[in-house]
Amino acid sequence: MDSTTDIFNAVGRVRDPELDATLSELGMIRGVRRDSDGVVVEIALTTRGCPLRGKIEADATEAARRAGARDVRVEISILEDDERAELMRKARALAQSRAPETSVPRRAPVIMVASGKGGVGKSSVTANLAEALARRGLAVGVLDADIWGFSLTRLLGTKGEIEVRDGKMRPVQSPRAQGSLSLLSMGQLADERRALMWRGLIVQKAVAQFLQDADWSDVDTLLIDTPPGTGDIPMTLARLLPHLGTLLVTTPNSAAQDVAARTGDFVVKSNLRLLGVVENMSAYRCDCGALHAPFGHGGGERLAHELGTDLLGQIPLDAAISSANDDGRPVARDTHVAFDQLANALWPRAENLVPQGCSARLLDALDRAVGH
Ligand SMILES: Nc1ncnc2c1ncn2[C@@H]1O[C@H](COP(=O)(O)OP(=O)(O)O)[C@@H](O)[C@H]1O
Ligand SMILES: [Mg+2]
Repeated sequence: MDSTTDIFNAVGRVRDPELDATLSELGMIRGVRRDSDGVVVEIALTTRGCPLRGKIEADATEAARRAGARDVRVEISILEDDERAELMRKARALAQSRAPETSVPRRAPVIMVASGKGGVGKSSVTANLAEALARRGLAVGVLDADIWGFSLTRLLGTKGEIEVRDGKMRPVQSPRAQGSLSLLSMGQLADERRALMWRGLIVQKAVAQFLQDADWSDVDTLLIDTPPGTGDIPMTLARLLPHLGTLLVTTPNSAAQDVAARTGDFVVKSNLRLLGVVENMSAYRCDCGALHAPFGHGGGERLAHELGTDLLGQIPLDAAISSANDDGRPVARDTHVAFDQLANALWPRAENLVPQGCSARLLDALDRAVGH
């Protein structure tokens, strides 16, 4: 084996981060040759101006160097139409053979709302964030992955039961949200069906079913409310959903912050992506103008600092929030400063979860064109 073959093989193992396959699997390496200045690696991309071009070039250069090449140049060309169609076919086949299929579109960021313990307001934050994002014009899906302690049906005030069409569960539209908001929750199964599911299934399986046997194809983003702690559910979610990021909820006191820190640690160690921290039940100003902080100060800020992430919002402790939750009419269904600020800070980060590349968009367009 001569050394250009080694380099060819090494570069072939570089992954296209968007299509999650290697350059060799995708047939994107045109060749490796030597000239008087060193080694030239020829790579063909799907489109000109692909935002991932820089990353692919850098990874390919690095791989070639590791395989012994000293002076490396990467030459980029663009695939012809028929070559691109072939690449997309391969990419789709690979994706199908690897990832368990869910109907969540590739362009839709998935936001998992988590915390170490119960009662800090995960479900309240999920419901209000969903309303705030829907009001911005996004089609928002909500998955209640708290299988035992489901609460989103009550919080969002959705009454309907899950309908099954073409073998897929249809998320139930919230009729009163300002925009498009749909929900799947254990709370939407009639008691007998729920009992059946509880008897027959382990919890993880139920979550997987809500993703794999449901039709989420219309959503622009999916929010997932989770049970407290670091059980298997976040891992199941991460395995099924490549574009998943975690929003950590904590309260201002240090006990909650410690527990949340453990969750944050788990998120980082498990290679899950952390979007940031939201502090709930923060200080509030009463009518007399004084600031009250029954749960203390600074927990969110400290936690964010500890985890090397940002505090994306502070939601005040407010009786109006809890009574609106109880009425199935989250405050953020109408303008609500704290939740709107949280949505504004979070959304650009969530969008970053989805590779802003050329191929994912191309794949979506292709899927639509052939009616998948
Ligand atoms: N910012 C807030 N102000 C007042 N009450 C809140 C606030 N956030 C949540 N709550 C209330 O606190 C309780 C626990 O919230 P919940 O969202 O169910 O927590 P978790 O999902 O973390 O267990 C609920 O009754 C909820 O309405
Ligand atoms: Mg909850």
